[in-house]
Amino acid sequence: MNYSKMIDNERGLISREIFSDKDIFEEELERVFTRAWLFVGHESQIPNPGDFFTSRMGTESVILTRDKKNKIHVFHNSCRHRGMKVCQYDHGNTQLFTCPYHSWSFTTEGKLFGVPQYKGLYEEHLNKDEWSLIEVAQIYNYKGTIWATWDKDAPDFLTYLGEAKTHLDLALDCRDGREGGSEVLMGVHKWIIPCNWKVAAENFLGDTYHNVSHRSVDLVGIGPSAEAGVKGRRDNELEFAKHLWVNFPGGHGVHSAIVPEDSPFVNTFQNNPVVADYFQYCHDERKRRMGEQARLMPFVGTIFPNASFHGRQPRSICVWHPHGPEKTEAWRFFLVDKDAPQEVKDFMRRYYMRYSGPAGMTEQDDMENWNYATAGSRGPIARRYPYNYMQSLGTALPPGEGPVAGNVSLQVSEENPRQFYRAWRNYMNEESWDVLADKAPAQKGQGN
Ligand code: FES
Ligand SMILES: [Fe+2]
Repeated sequence: MNYSKMIDNERGLISREIFSDKDIFEEELERVFTRAWLFVGHESQIPNPGDFFTSRMGTESVILTRDKKNKIHVFHNSCRHRGMKVCQYDHGNTQLFTCPYHSWSFTTEGKLFGVPQYKGLYEEHLNKDEWSLIEVAQIYNYKGTIWATWDKDAPDFLTYLGEAKTHLDLALDCRDGREGGSEVLMGVHKWIIPCNWKVAAENFLGDTYHNVSHRSVDLVGIGPSAEAGVKGRRDNELEFAKHLWVNFPGGHGVHSAIVPEDSPFVNTFQNNPVVADYFQYCHDERKRRMGEQARLMPFVGTIFPNASFHGRQPRSICVWHPHGPEKTEAWRFFLVDKDAPQEVKDFMRRYYMRYSGPAGMTEQDDMENWNYATAGSRGPIARRYPYNYMQSLGTALPPGEGPVAGNVSLQVSEENPRQFYRAWRNYMNEESWDVLADKAPAQKGQGN
């Protein structure tokens, strides 16, 4: 495959094939998903020893678990005997993962523990220590979010994240400016859509241009204070802000904003004084703690390759799990401050569901677009014609001149997706980690 030809950032052209071709998809699994750091889950989902949550890395099932000594692990959810899933449940608590096929069992540390008829059938040949569950090469707990990679040579997670950290922090930190402190609100919304995973990941790089497709939810007013007559689908705290589209080495991209100095609290929770008071307090406290830094507010972002986030409302992490070139399993982990009052959590839960997830009105608008954009990439005629990624070509600020670190654009721009696909091309060309981190020029691709 000539991936360099498929991504032409000089002219802003990207091949439709990368969104529907089966062979490209298979290579992505090997070249992107076995190397990159992937979001697996949140520590609040496994608070006690023996707790587990089954997740995915690429197309493969994995178990996120906390062992007896409170150490968090991520294991391949596949028996070392014949591959059956050793964990059949979405989440729970266990002493042992017992395979339903022939009953081999594994501890929460991944060790092979029980083998039926071990003495008579295996003792001479099978060393149990050599048949543990397969464990990821690296794992990192970042402010409660758990990330993992199968590549022992990958840089550590914080190096991988780079300056995108500042923006991810804005989603993960408490609303009052304290570091960390989030939890996943109840269960995870999971659903399958007929769309290529990159279409969704790209949208979250800051596709502000598609706002028009949410016109109906804006008109209806599904925002937190819909009943108070406030139109729109979320609060309008960024109305007077300077918007930034920023990308980073490795393909991460965000849309954040800097609000004017002394921006007042925007109260969009008028219907519920407890919630309004909570967010008013958080606004003031965040400003007190962070000073000038509090002016930087998050909107959306994607950490390469498939973990996206909504930083304010509906505050969440969205993962786009690949199933096939035209099939993606979307997972939404809604976040709240762990120590927020229950009434705030309940209110946010209802708003989140109105907005996002399979029944969320805004998410439905997006899916309608993504699904057909994928189908429209498939046909023999379609594949002859590339997609247009020319928006705001060449208008990113020179390095170091933006108000935040990274490659910054101050106007609506497709620079973030161009850089996302440049990173994707580097992975697909099996470049070294130095190239992936932009520390060395690409060997096989174009430089742009
Ligand atoms: S496949 Fe698990 S015990 Fe045989
Ligand atoms: Fe959208």
